[in-house]
Amino acid sequence: MKLPTPLQQIDRTYVRLGRRKLSYFAGCDYFRMASHPKVLRAMQEGAKKFGLNVAASRMTTGNHAFYGKLEAALVRFFACETAVLVANGYVTNLVVAQALAGDFSHVIVDEQAHASLLDAAIFFDCPILKFKHRDAADLLRIVGRIGKQAKSVLLADGVFSHDGSLSPLRKYLKILPRNSVLLVDDAHGAGTLGETGKGAVELEGTPRHRVIQTITLSKGFGVYGGAILCSRSLRERIFARSRMFAGSTPLPLPLASAALKAVQVLAAEKSLRQRLVRNVAFVKGELSKAGANISPPPSPIVAIIPQTVREAERIKARCLAAAVFPSFIKYGGGPQDGYFRFAISSEHTREQLDALVRALV
Ligand SMILES: Cc1ncc(COP(=O)(O)O)c(C=O)c1O
Repeated sequence: MKLPTPLQQIDRTYVRLGRRKLSYFAGCDYFRMASHPKVLRAMQEGAKKFGLNVAASRMTTGNHAFYGKLEAALVRFFACETAVLVANGYVTNLVVAQALAGDFSHVIVDEQAHASLLDAAIFFDCPILKFKHRDAADLLRIVGRIGKQAKSVLLADGVFSHDGSLSPLRKYLKILPRNSVLLVDDAHGAGTLGETGKGAVELEGTPRHRVIQTITLSKGFGVYGGAILCSRSLRERIFARSRMFAGSTPLPLPLASAALKAVQVLAAEKSLRQRLVRNVAFVKGELSKAGANISPPPSPIVAIIPQTVREAERIKARCLAAAVFPSFIKYGGGPQDGYFRFAISSEHTREQLDALVRALV
């Protein structure tokens, strides 16, 4: 196995492939915050003011006040009780599982959950049961087996990155025993889903007291880092019990500064989310009209699974003819032989969206 050919980003929505400039629908920088001038400025100011690195765990001497500021901004944005920053999105789920290890009788996990959830399942230190992808009926079967007294934690993505589908969180809560909770990896939903960008939890209207929502700051917020949106008691448990949290250096401060700005920009510039919603509705509407089998809006991911190598080659050729980068990837949870994944952003132009539709219809 080897790494894919490196890509050269030209600007916010284009890449260079050989001599060609192609529209870029890969990566998950849904609002192109990674190149937002205010976010970039905040990163530079952060570096000037704070230097790069606290070079110590937050539990020792590395607890800079700025982390608290970013956590407070996340609490306001997501309207949750508290937030705990960690190094990245992958680590969020592992930290939660370390903090709550031994608390549950069973872990129930979507069979196509993100790798970080599958790894986290092991850290919970109890029997792991997998249910069929997004299948509430299969979950019901499992709950029947473990009984109503079980205290389980269900692990699922808010938005599955390999097919763009959403987890039916409300249905899960109805099926699960009453003292069970959901650990929702909302890496792709944070900022993008719900009336105000609070993610799958907002879209589904799931009560916060039964949900631990984990997010990344690298997608909708375009920067880097991860956060756990949870109760104060879980926050304390993390400090007391997560070796990963206590034993590692937090986010570099310039990135924390950039992330804070990204959160503020996304909260203030409502037009960003409106444009994303509009762009997603346009592309998915056109593809659905043409009979494509894709996940519906508001998920911003379009996944196309070719059935044969020949079909993959055909889609690749059509993308190139429409000047669209053919983002064919192999990624955990998705089909083994690979698939096309296109992530729509607020910043793609109508011309680029038309080109994508032309390539895929
Ligand atoms: C569903 C999901 N969870 C977690 C992650 C990890 O986030 P990060 O890249 O911030 O580590 C990703 C992707 O990168 C993801 O798609």
